[in-house]
Amino acid sequence: MKKVLICNQKGGVGKSLIADELAFSFERSGIPVAFFDLDVQGGTIHRTDQRQDAEVAVIDTPGALQRQMGVWMAEADVIVIPTRPTSRDIEPLLRMLEIAAKNAPTTPLVVVINAWNRWRASADFRAWFQGQVKAGKMTVLTLPQSEQFVQASAAGQSVIEYAKSSKAARAMQEVVNTIRDLIGIVAE
Ligand SMILES: Nc1ncnc2c1ncn2[C@@H]1O[C@H](COP(=O)(O)OP(=O)(O)OP(=O)(O)O)[C@@H](O)[C@H]1O
Ligand SMILES: [Mg+2]
Repeated sequence: MKKVLICNQKGGVGKSLIADELAFSFERSGIPVAFFDLDVQGGTIHRTDQRQDAEVAVIDTPGALQRQMGVWMAEADVIVIPTRPTSRDIEPLLRMLEIAAKNAPTTPLVVVINAWNRWRASADFRAWFQGQVKAGKMTVLTLPQSEQFVQASAAGQSVIEYAKSSKAARAMQEVVNTIRDLIGIVAE
């Protein structure tokens, strides 16, 4: 079973959003998916479902520093770190990258810069981040700020179905397909 870990100790960066979209994607493809919501506060459309025949597991984690994070990372086949692009997000992101480097040095990393925009803070973040990317093996993708994500989740649906041709859906499809590719599951 391939394990996709979605993590960032920073809250509200889009971990649960991406976890749900991954689960929806595997469901659309008829791929048996287990879902682990390790956040006691919930926040996902999917509920923990530890099915025995799962080919892939999606693991959503809480927005707080977890003692077990290193262990979770060591067990993952791909690590997804969503972040928002502000200067305040740099420190938690650095911490996650550090834990990954120590515990899962060869595991592919996908950093999803969520709610990308042209604010000044974003420019700072981008300048800082480009240096990191150059050095490493991580994949970097972006998601736009979009009401479609909020509306789709209020409707209990995937944005890829709810708002098919939107910018939000296209960007999410790329995130989902990149992760599928990294665990050897053909893109949608
Ligand atoms: N790109 C976006 N555009 C608009 N709204 C967004 C976007 N990304 C996330 N949101 C909204 O922001 C809120 C926080 O997202 P989400 O719950 O996925 O974050 P999280 O990292 O799981 O937070 P926590 O750490 O509290 O679990 C949700 O209401 C979600 O719908
Ligand atoms: Mg969450």
